[in-house]
Amino acid sequence: MSRIIYVNGSYRPYADALVHAEDRGFQFADSVYEVIEILGGKLVDATRHLVRLERSLGELGIRTPMGRASLQLVIREVIRRNRVRDGVVYLQVTRGEGPRDFAFPDDEVEPTLVVLARSQQREKNNALAAVGIAVKTMPDRRWGRSDIKTVMLLPACLAKDAAKQDGAREAWFVDSEGYITEGASSNAWIVTRDRVLVTRQLDHRILGGVTRATALDVAREYQMKVEQRAFTRAEALDAEEAFITSATNTVMPVVRIDGQPVGNGKPGIVSQRLRSQFHQCAEISAL
Ligand code: PDD
Repeated sequence: MSRIIYVNGSYRPYADALVHAEDRGFQFADSVYEVIEILGGKLVDATRHLVRLERSLGELGIRTPMGRASLQLVIREVIRRNRVRDGVVYLQVTRGEGPRDFAFPDDEVEPTLVVLARSQQREKNNALAAVGIAVKTMPDRRWGRSDIKTVMLLPACLAKDAAKQDGAREAWFVDSEGYITEGASSNAWIVTRDRVLVTRQLDHRILGGVTRATALDVAREYQMKVEQRAFTRAEALDAEEAFITSATNTVMPVVRIDGQPVGNGKPGIVSQRLRSQFHQCAEISAL
């Protein structure tokens, strides 16, 4: 079965799908995106993801390619045509195409919309969660508006690759004051020795993760203590547990930071509980 991708109004096999070479997403990273988990053929937290997409577009003044209901139909059709049961939907909107010019083209330019769906083995991710992952800290060299989900991902790619060279799966960014901001493609959390969940407050330095928001709902449901505030690398190294949240991982335990074990070096009970209860609290929408 050949995979089908949606590009600007049509569903095509990958080999036939085209985006213009002077698309601003390609030339300037003038573009935003979303990644939504697919669980058993259903979308996880679609509303929160689509609300965030609209916010990202609004912050950058990129036109909305279509209304939320139509976009949902496209997403569903892409999932159906690719027969994805478990995996992710990726959608990207760029400001559109035009002769290369830093200043924006006029309002008539149509935004570019790409939607694809990909299968991912849940078992693999569960097996990883059973042992936990390592993270590597490094300076946060991104721009000052990391709250907008843009495709300006080169600092994240460089950081993830450096982490990979060190046997770590994620990079944790550290700001100029020594506080962890977030992961290269996830939000960062710790559980202190007195069982308080800590994750950075929402500000311009981090993406307001959808998984973060739902994990906070789970924590509330189980009356866990939560503090939304910045924490340092030293505090993380002294923590009982650590974990990351993202649409591709839900809740993933972190067992090593810069080669040093977190807690007893095994996935902790709080992280495991958040992970096991996550989908009970998330919005699961039928297709
Ligand atoms: N990344 N922070 C950053 C910088 C991210 O790129 C992501 C998600 C998150 C977590 O957001 P959410 O919980 O909404 O997935 C936080 C996606 C998964 C990616 O780029 O593949």
